[in-house]
Amino acid sequence: MPRALHSRSPAVSDPHSDLPTVVRRSSSGLGPSAPVLQVRRPMASYGVSFAPVATAVHVLGVLVLALILYWVIAFRGGVTLWGSAPALIFNAHPVIMFGGFIFVSSEAILVYKTLSGTKRSKKLVHMSLQAIAFLLALVGIWAALKFHLDSNIDNFYSLHSWLGIFTVVLFFIQWIAGFFSFWTQSVAGSTRAAVLPWHVFFGIGAYVLAVATAVLGFLEKITFLQSGSLGHYASEAMFVNTVALLVVVFGFVTVLAILIPAPKEEDGYQAIEMGDLLHFSMA
Ligand code: HEM
Ligand code: HEM
Repeated sequence: MPRALHSRSPAVSDPHSDLPTVVRRSSSGLGPSAPVLQVRRPMASYGVSFAPVATAVHVLGVLVLALILYWVIAFRGGVTLWGSAPALIFNAHPVIMFGGFIFVSSEAILVYKTLSGTKRSKKLVHMSLQAIAFLLALVGIWAALKFHLDSNIDNFYSLHSWLGIFTVVLFFIQWIAGFFSFWTQSVAGSTRAAVLPWHVFFGIGAYVLAVATAVLGFLEKITFLQSGSLGHYASEAMFVNTVALLVVVFGFVTVLAILIPAPKEEDGYQAIEMGDLLHFSMA
């Protein structure tokens, strides 16, 4: 949205709506003083500010990553990406899928509200972090695949693995679509406006799917172990259940951070407000 649109003139009433209407004057695109009539939608208010929720995302992310590392080291014999111990290579899978894929992607999603700077610099950080998350997801999946191949176990038979493949394919498509729509801006402005809500929708969808896939992964691993020598109420089983629950809490808090409106910046740029779609900006 051009900066001039942020200087609002007083609200006028719209007889056909109970929502207040504002007349804005634009100095770009529509002529020096063309009025732009927009309906102001009420902004979603959750009664919490963004900062503590963002802090909770950072803290919970580090905590969950530390707990997963503790699990694979204290209970599962360690973790590696090299060497001839397939079980230890598998252990890199949960570590990377949460720490590298889900956590990095969460931070990427929050960048528009946590970083200050120009819009283009925020886009650069957002898309770079999403690219890193995607590449790390490939490394994490490779670890599970290598474990299977080295141990003569079938591949891609479980719902977890199907959802996992679906998630990373969705991420890939989302990245490519985001790159050409918002970075190279290869499409018309009106198309960008139409794409943006879908970008947010599929971005949240892919993210939630990643969290669900990870939870299924924990369930699958602990069920494998419980069908062996691990007791139903063994401390390892309870520990992993707790970690999976914390992953769910982490996902909830991240989605809340997306929905909470960002604090206004001085240059007038504001990240998307979900209840305020008319205010999307794509410059
Ligand atoms: C978003 C996160 C995750 C994704 C996208 C994902 C994806 C995958 C994929 C594609 C496979 C299939 C590998 C093959 O068949 O060769 C796999 C296997 C596996 N993953 Fe995950 N994973 C994720 C997180 C986790 C987590 C946190 C755990 C917890 C331990 C886990 C446990 C497993 C297990 C036990 C297997 C082997 C059995 C199977 O193929 O289903 N995964 N994962
Ligand atoms: C897998 C890759 C990606 C995912 C999962 C993703 C996800 C998201 C999500 C959830 C939001 C909403 C953030 C919020 O409202 O607080 C968002 C906003 C946005 N994303 Fe992405 N994104 C991805 C890749 C990209 C790429 C490659 C670009 C290219 C620059 C991009 C550009 C944008 C822009 C311009 C916004 C709107 C920012 C604003 O509020 O003004 N995204 N993305």
